[in-house]
Amino acid sequence: MIGKPVKGPAYQALNIDDVKLPTDHPHPLVRRLFSFWAPTTATLRGWALAAVVANAGITVSGAVVRVTGSGLGCPTWPRCTPDSFIPVAHPEVSPINMAIEFGNRLVTFLVLVIGLACWVAAMRLRPRRASLVKLAWLQPIGIAAQALWGGVVVSTLLNPFTVGMHFLLSIGLTAACWALYARAGEGDAPVRRVVHRDVRRLGHALLAAVFALLVMGVLVTGTGPHSGDELASRFDLDIETVARLHADIAYLVVGLTFALLFALHVTDSPRSARRAALALLGIELLQGVIGYVQYFLGVPAVLVALHVIGATVVWIFTLRAVTALRTRDPAGPGASPSPTEAAATA
Ligand code: HEM
Repeated sequence: MIGKPVKGPAYQALNIDDVKLPTDHPHPLVRRLFSFWAPTTATLRGWALAAVVANAGITVSGAVVRVTGSGLGCPTWPRCTPDSFIPVAHPEVSPINMAIEFGNRLVTFLVLVIGLACWVAAMRLRPRRASLVKLAWLQPIGIAAQALWGGVVVSTLLNPFTVGMHFLLSIGLTAACWALYARAGEGDAPVRRVVHRDVRRLGHALLAAVFALLVMGVLVTGTGPHSGDELASRFDLDIETVARLHADIAYLVVGLTFALLFALHVTDSPRSARRAALALLGIELLQGVIGYVQYFLGVPAVLVALHVIGATVVWIFTLRAVTALRTRDPAGPGASPSPTEAAATA
């Protein structure tokens, strides 16, 4: 650049050793928060795990909206009321319901920020890994789709099909975040089983059964009393029958998990896989107890919210147990750590 020579602090900052990035900050929390900008595999995994927790969290805040009858607390979308994006006094809506529904909308931003951090980290990781970039793209796309679907939920006056799909889409997004977390910790070579082929098949059957259990749970909820607002319609199903079917699938899931654990033990499988299956069994049993207690107590709101937390935790632990049955080695014989990784460990 032609002109006056640069003097003072600006000039000094041109010395590369003096340039300070947030990723060099002395405070570990600030370094962690900005780690998406100069990622290592470990920090990318940290963001992916945060995304798993955030997506699980939004299913719970959504359940709180439902069980407190706040589903139409913000009667319009994307505005909270016809003429305001934020809660304002409305003659037909209680301020508490409005605050709860608006709080749930705000959680979307947290999920979005964490999803974007995952995406930036995957794009900036060196060498860039196409597998991770593809998985990371699912997050901003999925969150945008969920935000739009939220509008459909409100405009259909909490139709149980749209509410149920909203929950199941979050379950899918949680799986995408888990896949990013798991893949970032592996290489890019083809999948390698770490257990017997039939044990892995059993794992896949378990995954399908847990998904069916979640779908059935959504049907029970869509038939039961916690619709989110008295205006909302319900599935025209017999609540006793759907609840019994839901509990039957829960028995199947527990049976399959026990079979998986047994098979892993008798085939002397890796400890990590055995521990993941055992943890899943424990969580399922706890969730089953909550399910029965809430059923016999006439589905009190607090227990229903707890049951939704349990459902997302069961899902995450199932993903963990199934991914523990396989791995991927680094691609190619000369696979080396990323430059950012090398710099971080130097
Ligand atoms: C591993 C075991 C279980 C899982 C993963 C699970 C999962 C779920 C899910 C995802 C929902 C829907 C939540 C929503 O849409 O917000 C649900 C609802 C429900 N589940 Fe389960 N469940 C399990 C076991 C049980 C058992 C053993 C019972 C006993 C009958 C039970 C009773 C119910 C009831 C009554 C509802 C409806 C609650 C409402 O009114 O919203 N669950 N469950």
